[in-house]
Amino acid sequence: MSPLWVFGYGSLIWRPDFAFIDAQPAKLPGYSRRFWQGSHDHRGVPERPGRVVTLIEDVAANCHGMAYLIEAEIVESTFEQLDYREKNGYERLVTDLHLVSGTRVPGLVYIAAPGNFAYLGEAPLDEIARQILEAEGPSGRNIEYLHELAQALRRLEAHDEHVFALESLTRELGG
Ligand code: SIN
Repeated sequence: MSPLWVFGYGSLIWRPDFAFIDAQPAKLPGYSRRFWQGSHDHRGVPERPGRVVTLIEDVAANCHGMAYLIEAEIVESTFEQLDYREKNGYERLVTDLHLVSGTRVPGLVYIAAPGNFAYLGEAPLDEIARQILEAEGPSGRNIEYLHELAQALRRLEAHDEHVFALESLTRELGG
């Protein structure tokens, strides 16, 4: 095993919860972030799933997030831990990451593809906002996930229309 980069674009941006030897803002070309994945295990429960982000193929887009470099000796155990955390429909994908330093590196990203068992897909933004406001699971309230993500993106100076529009809508609705 050699050291390996992993790209985070959702909770992995603000709560990586694993050891790394380098972390850099990064982008993944060709993808947009969307609250289209159901969360039955973290930010919702089976009877009332929450919504969390996944990546949707979008040739003209760049998804901004954080890349973390994992030391060779703990690559395997770290990915076992991440596979468990991301078990609700996400699969590992090997891809090219563009680090803020200008370097392109191979890395892994967890993507929940359309049609997976927990996929909820597109819905009107106000519906998504209401669902996020109402859902809560073992990892906490769904709204907290949205607000943490929006704040983390602002710290990265990354604009994300979809995330920021949902943040405004949930605030208007009292969240
Ligand atoms: C990620 O953060 O990269 C995957 C989705 C999530 O755990 O929120």
